Amino acid sequence: MMAFKSPITIALPKGRILKDTLPLLAHVGIKLRDDPDTSRKLILDTNVDVVKVVLIRATDVPTYVQWGAADLGVTGKDTLVEHGGEGLYEPLDLHIAKCQLMVAGHPEASLDGQRLRIATKYVKAAKRHFAAKGQQVEIIKLYGSMELAPLVGLSDLIVDLVESGNTLKANGLVPLEFVMDISSRLVVNKASWKMKHETIIALMEALSEAVNG
Ligand code: PRP
Repeated sequence: MMAFKSPITIALPKGRILKDTLPLLAHVGIKLRDDPDTSRKLILDTNVDVVKVVLIRATDVPTYVQWGAADLGVTGKDTLVEHGGEGLYEPLDLHIAKCQLMVAGHPEASLDGQRLRIATKYVKAAKRHFAAKGQQVEIIKLYGSMELAPLVGLSDLIVDLVESGNTLKANGLVPLEFVMDISSRLVVNKASWKMKHETIIALMEALSEAVNG
């Protein structure tokens, strides 16, 4: 197992990303001491004394890492695009929690035209997508259940993550246009990158092997 010269705090979001990240960490020799499904603790010990894991929301991971409250984190590319990435390096695609960001709506919905109303949690990604097509759209910010918006006339279209497509299907909606591929990324605080370089590089190389092997 790799040697840890510096103490390291890793920020992880509960749910699917955590589930997919734990086997990668195990491959590197890091295992949680507590069961994240039953423990209410937010700071978890690992079998490596100097490695701690903090459990937070995916959208908060870039913030904790940006401010150095965690040295490293794992979160989705969707979250990173919305955060903007200040204070962070994003050195490794972990190829987990893969899905696609898509424009979706009623099967007969038109993608063309100006001033379409787009409901989404992914405001920056949506703005960028339509701006690149030369379309002015009105973005309606939501925090979840985007599929509801076209059903009740709140919006013409949505921009949302699609994995199996089951949520869209169950609501009579279809994916209409690809926006971007999404997967989870390792993010690193810029100061930690310098101060704890050896440990972080070793951890990254081990993780990269776990990802590609
Ligand atoms: C995501 C996304 C869709 C659904 C897509 O929501 O927003 O609603 O998963 O998955 P599918 O294509 O396999 O049906 P999530 O469950 O992550 O909850 P959220 O609404 O909080 O984003």
